[in-house]
Amino acid sequence: MIEKTLDSLVLEVKEMSPKLGSRAEFDSFKSTISGPKGKLTDVMKLMGKVPKEEKPAMGKKINEAKQVIQASMDEANKRIEESELLSSLGPTIDPTLPSPDSEKGVLHPIAQVRDQIVELFNRIGFAVVEGTELETEYYCFDALNIAKDHPARDMQDSYFLPNAIQMANVSKESDEKYLLRTHTSSVQIRTLLKEKPPIRIVAPGRCFRRDTPDATHSANFHQIEGLYVDKNVSLTDLKATLDYFVKMVFGDSAKTRLRPSFFPFTEPSFEMDFYSPNLGKLSNQWLEIMGCGMVDPEVFKSVGLDPNEYSGYAFGMGIERIAMILQGVDDIRYYYQNDIRFLRQFSD
Ligand code: PHE
Repeated sequence: MIEKTLDSLVLEVKEMSPKLGSRAEFDSFKSTISGPKGKLTDVMKLMGKVPKEEKPAMGKKINEAKQVIQASMDEANKRIEESELLSSLGPTIDPTLPSPDSEKGVLHPIAQVRDQIVELFNRIGFAVVEGTELETEYYCFDALNIAKDHPARDMQDSYFLPNAIQMANVSKESDEKYLLRTHTSSVQIRTLLKEKPPIRIVAPGRCFRRDTPDATHSANFHQIEGLYVDKNVSLTDLKATLDYFVKMVFGDSAKTRLRPSFFPFTEPSFEMDFYSPNLGKLSNQWLEIMGCGMVDPEVFKSVGLDPNEYSGYAFGMGIERIAMILQGVDDIRYYYQNDIRFLRQFSD
């Protein structure tokens, strides 16, 4: 009778223990076997009724059964412990695999070109400076020798702020107006008033003009201004610097050309064109990319420098214009629409 019960108990434990899937299942099954009311406990209680002479043999049997039961339960316990440990570690990972692709942000294509240009000028000794987007007429026009009746001063051409506004950090004369800078040339004046020559700077930044947006116009856009002021700066220096710049950006086979032009703050003034045989659709034609010239004596006078002692050159280019040529973009508006499909094309 005891033997039979023992045999079926061992069988039950052997059958059930591999199926126990959780700690709770394990504990409740264990209590049905070895708990105070468990089946094994019941069998042990029966020992008292076993005749004396059978006791040793029966005791041995019970011990053997206990060992088999213990081994099965130990195995189940170990298996459950391992799976508890694994699930506490989270999902299974293989640390030797490369990490999954993460969405990495990149600089906006305009910022990429800005940085590329600034870096090229850094290499030949130009420092980076920044002005303010909000300007006064003085920095944007007067000090740059731009006449009172110049069209840029029209309400239709520039964004003026209401007269009542006073900015604590940009001082102005009482009858002077604030405006959003129409070009980065205002930074020439800010720098010339602050620093002593030799001055060699580039000034990247956002500019604003009242333009109706189309494929090549945007009411806000970016420029990079360049200024070099020292003793005996010549037009040859300007030409050499621009040649270097164009060749670095568009390749050694690119050529530059200075075409006479007019800016109130440079004399003589030029438009700089370049020509490249390997620009796809834009190959083999002269493309205008910046205005430049020798700093006008009137500008030196307005910042208190003697034009007989100092000379210099200045240039200003639209970053969008250069980006469009380099990146093959034929509508400036793409840059401002924040369409991820467009922007993604400029990530590497
Ligand atoms: N500020 C001029 C413009 O916006 C460009 C320029 C800069 C020309 C410096 C000459 C010298 O068109």
